[in-house]
Amino acid sequence: MAIMVEAGPHLGVGDASGATVQQAARLRGDIALPGDKSISHRALMLALLARGESRVSAASDGADVRSTAAIARALGATVTRSPAAGMEPGRVDYAVSSPGAAGLHAPASTLDCGNSGTTLRLFAGILAGLPLEAVLDGDDSLRGRPVARIIEPLRAMGAALSGRRQDSLPPVTVVGRTPLQAIDWTTAVPSAQVKSAILLAGLRADGTTTVREAIATRDHTERMLRARGVTVRSIAQANGGATIEIEGGADVRTTETLVPGDPSAAAFWLVAGTVHPDAELHLAGVGVNPTRRGAIVLLRAMGASIDEKGERLASGEPVADLTIRSSELRAIDVSAADTARAIDEIPILCLAATQAAGTTRIRGIGELRVKESDRVAGIVVGLRALGAELEVDGDDLVINGPARLRGATVESAGDHRLAMTFAIAGLLAEGSTTVLGADSAAISDPGFFGQIEEART
Ligand code: S3P
Repeated sequence: MAIMVEAGPHLGVGDASGATVQQAARLRGDIALPGDKSISHRALMLALLARGESRVSAASDGADVRSTAAIARALGATVTRSPAAGMEPGRVDYAVSSPGAAGLHAPASTLDCGNSGTTLRLFAGILAGLPLEAVLDGDDSLRGRPVARIIEPLRAMGAALSGRRQDSLPPVTVVGRTPLQAIDWTTAVPSAQVKSAILLAGLRADGTTTVREAIATRDHTERMLRARGVTVRSIAQANGGATIEIEGGADVRTTETLVPGDPSAAAFWLVAGTVHPDAELHLAGVGVNPTRRGAIVLLRAMGASIDEKGERLASGEPVADLTIRSSELRAIDVSAADTARAIDEIPILCLAATQAAGTTRIRGIGELRVKESDRVAGIVVGLRALGAELEVDGDDLVINGPARLRGATVESAGDHRLAMTFAIAGLLAEGSTTVLGADSAAISDPGFFGQIEEART
């Protein structure tokens, strides 16, 4: 990736991918967030399936969403991308003109999902229901991520899929068909990507497709399908699980989507504003969907001061304005269900735990090992290098706080969420912190290092 990290007075760029962050005396201001990555992907994919013109406003301009846009083009849509009016880097508007699902064509070459698991797994679900053949591939990180979890249900629906290493890893070849058979599937791991792949295939199946989850995951696919005229029922279970049913055969309607601020990107600033001793930060228009508020819930349980005002709906998704102030944190015990609900925010919540009084235990961390990198290994090595005390205990992470952090050189292994966690740690740590692989922040938040500079006053 040839994305340069912007240099500022306190942010040095050693090479194309290393950024040095100095300790900040104060953090103040309004943080401009990128558009929500999960919603941006889905808005583009559903625009591809709908016949006619769709618009996606204030979408993420991260590299992952660009991968999705490129694949939509390769399958037959005209996709134009322009800077979102009045928005910081990190937001763009898309106009999509598509012949609709029935008019899509086989791509001329391999579909490159880059670093994006969501792109690969959700497109596998879409392609399963189209009468064409395509290969989904990506970078080295994506080639190491599990795909049996989508290959198995999509095969059960009648599509032919295969992957490398006994169908366990990308690239994935999909030979789709229409119609598919409806299935009733219980997911083995809580995964919105797996659920969404099955629902998107279920659109092109005869009858009702059912997905059962032991822990309910983010529900954007369900909300967005409903908003486009598809019948989707969600039944919440008392134990925190969910059953989702989709009626196959419906056409997806075109629509306009206004993408909320990304709550997973917001989490970095929620933690920065909370643990820094002299901070007050404002985040406007943050997505606060109940299935995405895990970081807010956990930080509040730790004693964080997070004010939430002005809740409203943006294209069917709740958004609110948040103000974060310096707080004294205490340790908590995070259940496996809470870990699943805050899966993308766990790395930055680990940093919060290093500053909380007592021992925090984060349970059920297994899925973190198969994200863009092994985030368990990466967070343990990186935070230890900065002076934190933490260890892995079976399927739990155990973190003792509060720790005095000191600047060091830390490796993000090209993982955007680790790079941003260590950069926020650099704002707290004495001296200077060098984050290797910092350019990976552009996967989900191209404006992140600019915001680091602006927040420091
Ligand atoms: C996502 C689901 C999650 C999450 C990822 C985005 C989505 O992955 O980690 O960043 O948009 O559906 P899993 O489904 O693998 O948990």
